[in-house]
Amino acid sequence: MGSKPHGWGINPSTGIPTIAFGNQKGGTGKTTGTINSAAALAVNGHDVLAIDIDPQGDMTKGLGLGPGDGEDPSNPKNDLPNLLVTDEGNLLDVLVDNPRTEDITLADILISDDQFDHLNFDLVPSHKDMGLARDWMDDADSRFALQYALEELTETYDYDFILIDCPPDLSVLTDAAFIAAQNVFLSAQTQATSRDALDELWDQLESIEDRQNTDIALVGLLANMFRDDGQSRKFIDVFEKQWSSMTPMFKLPVRVAIQRAWDNGQDIYEWDDDNDQAVERDRFLEVAETMERAFDRTTVEA
Ligand SMILES: Nc1ncnc2c1ncn2[C@@H]1O[C@H](COP(=O)(O)OP(=O)(O)O)[C@@H](O)[C@H]1O
Ligand SMILES: [Mg+2]
Repeated sequence: MGSKPHGWGINPSTGIPTIAFGNQKGGTGKTTGTINSAAALAVNGHDVLAIDIDPQGDMTKGLGLGPGDGEDPSNPKNDLPNLLVTDEGNLLDVLVDNPRTEDITLADILISDDQFDHLNFDLVPSHKDMGLARDWMDDADSRFALQYALEELTETYDYDFILIDCPPDLSVLTDAAFIAAQNVFLSAQTQATSRDALDELWDQLESIEDRQNTDIALVGLLANMFRDDGQSRKFIDVFEKQWSSMTPMFKLPVRVAIQRAWDNGQDIYEWDDDNDQAVERDRFLEVAETMERAFDRTTVEA
């Protein structure tokens, strides 16, 4: 892909390392990867912004800022607002070029980490209206909407890293995320359908590069929900052959705490249960350290 298989790109118009977590297949770990890499970078002292550009709003829900869990009154999510249905401005208003909403910017909808105790990083939440993006973002220029919005935001907000959680599709929203980020972190399950999905995604990246005359760097691959069985090992071998010379690969096994943390609206550094959480915490710290090295940002001592 492109002219720089190893080159991590920093978008010159913001100067901030920005990484989109993508794969058009659902359930591979994009949202898990975004939340927990953002949290790991924050644990290492960085100012991080995470953007939920998926109309399903799983990252927003996974941080507790979607519908609460009415069945479990003790779930901490129940006390938090549901930002996916707010009547105030939302991310679609920011991205759509519409006279009625042209005054709404990312700064207006951004949730700062000090608004909620459990947040380790700032969040641009998704919204149910994002499902209308296909209808409203149908001109070629829409693919640049997130980049323009980030340019404006970063005139006044300084971040060390920006991470974007993509929808499970190859829609205009995914294009907009890839163009704004210029770096893509892939997540895949260790199974055959994932390998095919990665090939398709690769074509999509090349097509964006050609059409927009830009380079998109592949910055990592999360081989997720790895099980210690023959099937998983076989696909780890396939991934290693096909991808490991191009990008760092991170293996993450199935870990109950990842699901529990999401269910309770927290990242894995915030969520604490009786299980040993060293495996997943260490893995995402490794992802964070790889990103720090690649973009020449050092851990900030607390
Ligand atoms: N390593 C893992 N161990 C256990 N559960 C996981 C793991 N990775 C993801 N999950 C769970 O699998 C589901 C799908 O993951 P998610 O990150 O939402 O995928 P995507 O965003 O690609 O659709 C979520 O419920 C998530 O909590
Ligand atoms: Mg997701």
